[in-house]
Amino acid sequence: MLVAVKKRFTPKVNLKNGETQWRNHVISVRQFTREDLDEVLFPASEKMLTMVQEVGKVGFLSGKVLACLFFEPSTRTMSSFFTAIERLGGSAIAINNVQFSSVSKGESLRDTIRTLGGYTDAIVMRHPEEGSVAKAAECSPVPIINAGDGKGEHPTQALLDLFTIQRELSSIDGLTVTMVGDLAHGRTVHSLARLLTLYEDVKINFVSPASLRMPAEKLAELRGQGVVPRELDRLDNDVVAESDVLYITRVQRERMTEEEKRIDNPFIVTAETMAHAKPKGKMILMHPLPRVGEISNEVDPDPRAAYFRQSEYGMYVRMGILKEILRSE
Ligand code: ASP
Ligand code: CP
Repeated sequence: MLVAVKKRFTPKVNLKNGETQWRNHVISVRQFTREDLDEVLFPASEKMLTMVQEVGKVGFLSGKVLACLFFEPSTRTMSSFFTAIERLGGSAIAINNVQFSSVSKGESLRDTIRTLGGYTDAIVMRHPEEGSVAKAAECSPVPIINAGDGKGEHPTQALLDLFTIQRELSSIDGLTVTMVGDLAHGRTVHSLARLLTLYEDVKINFVSPASLRMPAEKLAELRGQGVVPRELDRLDNDVVAESDVLYITRVQRERMTEEEKRIDNPFIVTAETMAHAKPKGKMILMHPLPRVGEISNEVDPDPRAAYFRQSEYGMYVRMGILKEILRSE
């Protein structure tokens, strides 16, 4: 008798607000509640950190295979998902040189996803088009995780950003978070700002040149959640001084026209900038990376410079996410 092809994916209950439960597909930070972070993801990530320090690897996800389908470049997201599944006992395949995949022959995203879903247990996907990962999830036979959809969202980055803040500053409630740079095209700040609305009394400053402001609809959404960000076009010393978190971003030149690309780096954080910031233990300097000149290398030894710790925490948070999504499949 022929063995039936195993059904790989049992959709779990949907949230009341109509969003897909994040254990089905991680598309947007809107899917997460404060309890998901405080009671599930952050404790799981902390346990992963301890486990990696003590033993390096476990077998929770033995036999599980992850596909990393990347239509845009990546160092951290791709390699931290790879190492995350490996450290949980599973394995990964990469489809990131799309010119060598059948996408270059004109294969549709839909067919690519259906095919990969037949080989693997989950798909991590990055794509230049906003909304593309949500579309992929509609036809995917396995869970899909958004690793960045154009200028839309980068939910797992925002989750690791919050884990970093919580770990380094003990709490997120009541903090002043200043996001600096290309707020128009930067997906990490879109996700992070949204996620911060889950916390009490968080003050948000957006610092950008007029051409790179946070989009109006995203500002309206934040206001709808009760957060009224302050918009500034300069990174003045008093803004640096009041910030518990200074979150710097890169100009996303790949999302701009040739004309727009000529823009210089609007803000550069140096040791002189950091001289105006709160002391060690009271503030952190973050960046999703890669940096291309927005933070001068001289700042790296400063204990408040958290960006490389932040990228390391990404692996533990992604281990927590993978375990939640894949363990009961
Ligand atoms: N790596 C982040 C992203 O893919 C930030 C950046 O590229 O500037 O969104
Ligand atoms: N932060 C981040 O997403 O980095 P990569 O683009 O290198 O994956």
